[in-house]
Amino acid sequence: MYKPLCESFCVIMISQCYHTILSFLDKGYVMSSLEETYRSVCAENRAHTPQISELMSGGLQSGITVKNLNAYFGEKQVLNDVNLYIEKDKITAIIGPSGCGKSTFLRCLNRMHEVVRGAKVTGEVLLDDKDIYAKGVDPVDIRRRIGIVFQKAQPFPMMTIYDDVTTGLRLGCGVKDKKALMRAAEKSLKKAALWDEVENVLYKKSGMSLSGGQQQRLCIARALAVEPDVILFDEPCSALDPISTSKIEDLMIELKEKYTLVIVTHNMQQAARVSDYTAFFLYGKLIEFGETEQIFKKPKEKSTEDYIVGRFG
Ligand SMILES: Nc1ncnc2c1ncn2[C@@H]1O[C@H](COP(=O)(O)OP(=O)(O)O)[C@@H](O)[C@H]1O
Ligand SMILES: [Mg+2]
Repeated sequence: MYKPLCESFCVIMISQCYHTILSFLDKGYVMSSLEETYRSVCAENRAHTPQISELMSGGLQSGITVKNLNAYFGEKQVLNDVNLYIEKDKITAIIGPSGCGKSTFLRCLNRMHEVVRGAKVTGEVLLDDKDIYAKGVDPVDIRRRIGIVFQKAQPFPMMTIYDDVTTGLRLGCGVKDKKALMRAAEKSLKKAALWDEVENVLYKKSGMSLSGGQQQRLCIARALAVEPDVILFDEPCSALDPISTSKIEDLMIELKEKYTLVIVTHNMQQAARVSDYTAFFLYGKLIEFGETEQIFKKPKEKSTEDYIVGRFG
């Protein structure tokens, strides 16, 4: 009973799937006993405790190539033969009306789609030329290399900011060295442009005490702490005010120096402001993909133009 629970816990911590962890807590699992059990399973499975430096892979070499990607929920097909190249150290925006498959596409990029019961993926997603769906590839490792930040910022209610930001490292990656964890917390909070605002309350306050924009930057720091190569953002600013939105946009532009970013957004100005490339999806199909300027100024497809100018959506 413990082992499957811990395996899911590992998936959860790495992918920051907040609702699932809360549901475990609702069912009466206490965080400390989950941690303990997780550690004992790790001890069984791992020959050694990893150092943070071992997690670093130095960024992508050649981007992500998506080939003939199809995704299903049971019998229902929600992505249809998607082919797309995501260039490294750039921002690729995914746009399209609600229900067209944007979130599903994002979740196929880090093997989170398959976590849903009955969900299936066919096709290839090549991360630096290696198919993340190939036999023997560990989905947990893929989710570490390709992190995700969701629409609603999700700090863990009963954790301090320090515990929250190091969750993936402590529980997902099994890092125990306190100094290394502290360094990682500081580094990722600085990268997420939050350090100055939380430095004095790191061990005192929970992420829940922060503003919406700060909470979203905390989630970005948490994603950065496990040393990913790629960060996926699913409508990261849709719950934020314009000032917090502009901070997150500035942050994304800074992050693309070292990380490959993919952002789902309903905000056309945001896509135009931050992204280098834009992909337009409709009814599960990739309709058009190109440089953002071309997509916004001279779309080739009529439906892209109609969507961008707000004729539907
Ligand atoms: N867990 C699920 N089970 C069944 N169908 C789902 C599930 N999640 C999403 N869908 C369906 O898959 C399609 C694509 O959804 P989604 O990827 O969330 O679209 P978007 O992010 O573009 O709004 C929609 O028709 C949606 O209803
Ligand atoms: Mg969505």
